[in-house]
Amino acid sequence: MTRPSSPPIVGRDRELDLLADLRTSAARGEGSVLLLSGDGGVGKTRLVRELARLSKESGWQVMYGRAYALETAIALGRRGFRRIE
Ligand SMILES: Nc1ncnc2c1ncn2[C@@H]1O[C@H](COP(=O)(O)OP(=O)(O)OP(=O)(O)O)[C@@H](O)[C@H]1O
Ligand SMILES: [Mg+2]
Repeated sequence: MTRPSSPPIVGRDRELDLLADLRTSAARGEGSVLLLSGDGGVGKTRLVRELARLSKESGWQVMYGRAYALETAIALGRRGFRRIE
């Protein structure tokens, strides 16, 4: 049985344009940190996954990590990240 693919992302052109601009700046050596926040289920993870997908398509190496409330001091250390395949 094959896994159904995600439905296409909708209504996030403005956000994706902003993220593409930040990525262009990063390619020039001007890195940045983006804080993405919003209500539960509003689409934060979906947006980040779309950014990762588009970035990988453009040849970027994408690292993905997550922090938990009880271990924020260590979760974003080097071992907190893994490569998205
Ligand atoms: N722009 C979008 N277009 C299509 N589907 C979307 C979009 N944004 C979110 N979804 C879908 O809505 C559901 C909830 O989105 P998501 O998991 O990204 O929310 P979230 O903000 O990360 O939630 P949480 O705060 O619980 O982590 C998912 O099934 C996701 O695929
Ligand atoms: Mg989420």
